[in-house]
Amino acid sequence: MMATLSMSAFSVRAHARSTLNAGARNPVKATMTTRAPRLPATRARGASLVANAAFTPAGAKIAGVGMAVPAQYLTNEDLSELVDTNDEWIRTRTGIGKRHVISGDESLTSLAADASKKALEMAGVDAEDIDLILLSTSSPDDLFGSACTVQAAIGAKGALAVDLTAACSGFVVGVVNGIHFIRGGEYKNVLVIGADVLSRYVDWRDRGTCILFGDGCGAMVLTSTPNPDDCCLLGFDMHSDGTGNHNLTAKFTAEIGAETDGKSKPCAAGEAAPSGRGAFCNIGMNGQEVFKFAVRTVPDTVSKSLDKAGMTSEDIDFLVMHQANQRIIDTAAKRFGLGPEKVVSNIAKYGNTSAGSVPIAMAEAVEEGRIKEGDIVATAGFGAGLTWASAILRW
Ligand code: COA
Repeated sequence: MMATLSMSAFSVRAHARSTLNAGARNPVKATMTTRAPRLPATRARGASLVANAAFTPAGAKIAGVGMAVPAQYLTNEDLSELVDTNDEWIRTRTGIGKRHVISGDESLTSLAADASKKALEMAGVDAEDIDLILLSTSSPDDLFGSACTVQAAIGAKGALAVDLTAACSGFVVGVVNGIHFIRGGEYKNVLVIGADVLSRYVDWRDRGTCILFGDGCGAMVLTSTPNPDDCCLLGFDMHSDGTGNHNLTAKFTAEIGAETDGKSKPCAAGEAAPSGRGAFCNIGMNGQEVFKFAVRTVPDTVSKSLDKAGMTSEDIDFLVMHQANQRIIDTAAKRFGLGPEKVVSNIAKYGNTSAGSVPIAMAEAVEEGRIKEGDIVATAGFGAGLTWASAILRW
């Protein structure tokens, strides 16, 4: 199924062309006040809540996970034909051996739909019973978001579907959000997806970034449980720092007048600039600064989440971090005294899939029989924004 690509066969040049244009301290113990009786069970999903809405707290559990990556991939040897690099350098500095890249009919929506169907199947939840879809992504197929096209692709007719952008922290932020909707008692089934196709924004001439990123998607189904004390989210911690934004960007740029032959309308009366075609620049990154940011913030945020959960690193069964660089993963694992048997790493196979990396790693670890029911999983994401977030989950 998976085939390595010959650079002539693969559309890296096309890519390059297009991209150039292109509350409570311990939630387990948290109590919530019921302010009014529950709404009648006959109320249609998605209908507006009345002002005096009732929130009957519920518990939440992880019911299913799934993943999907593009069929085609680029090895380090493939990249060494594009830029001045080599397999040994990439593996030593990053741990990456290959990365999958979308081609043909594949899209962010198709990957997200594939991963979601697998997660729903594992959960035994019908798509029509999903109340909410949170799609964490920085690279939607449409500027207005892709959650709704994923919703349509999987047939989740009753769901509200929205995008959430928090870069590589997006999936962790999405899971924390999704669990809170369930904890409030209003939603029973929430689908959280982490998906990115950053190959669209990679500059395939820049050896500092093109070696890192790959495309991929993971999904998780969260469902409610009757006992509010039975919650899979034991502690979380989330942050952003926009003063560091310049360290990792893919900025909007207006190509004034492009493809319009100067016949486009002005932006507004009296303004000289014609309407142009918008595009996003290639990914720009200060690798060393991002590296330092990651090794500083990840141990700190995981420690805070553990503290909120009333736990220590000895309670961690598995560390599932954002897969950005093996050296960053190793630094965090060492800080918590975790051996390789407790650390989930698949960066060698997929590179950095941004919002997709944490759920892909989780889905693989579950499929391989490593993560099992009852395990305590420490997870953390970090990246553009800058953003960083962690959560302690009970599987
Ligand atoms: N192949 C070969 N040599 C490369 C190279 C490549 N792909 N990329 C950079 N180099 C060279 C540099 O030019 C430099 O050469 P010089 O010493 O002659 O000037 C040397 O290798 C060291 O470069 P440096 O940038 O210091 O490497 P590094 O050890 O910091 O590794 C990254 C670079 C990008 C792998 C690393 O900084 C990193 O992973 N940062 C975090 C990025 C990240 O995680 N981003 C996403 C967050 S969500």
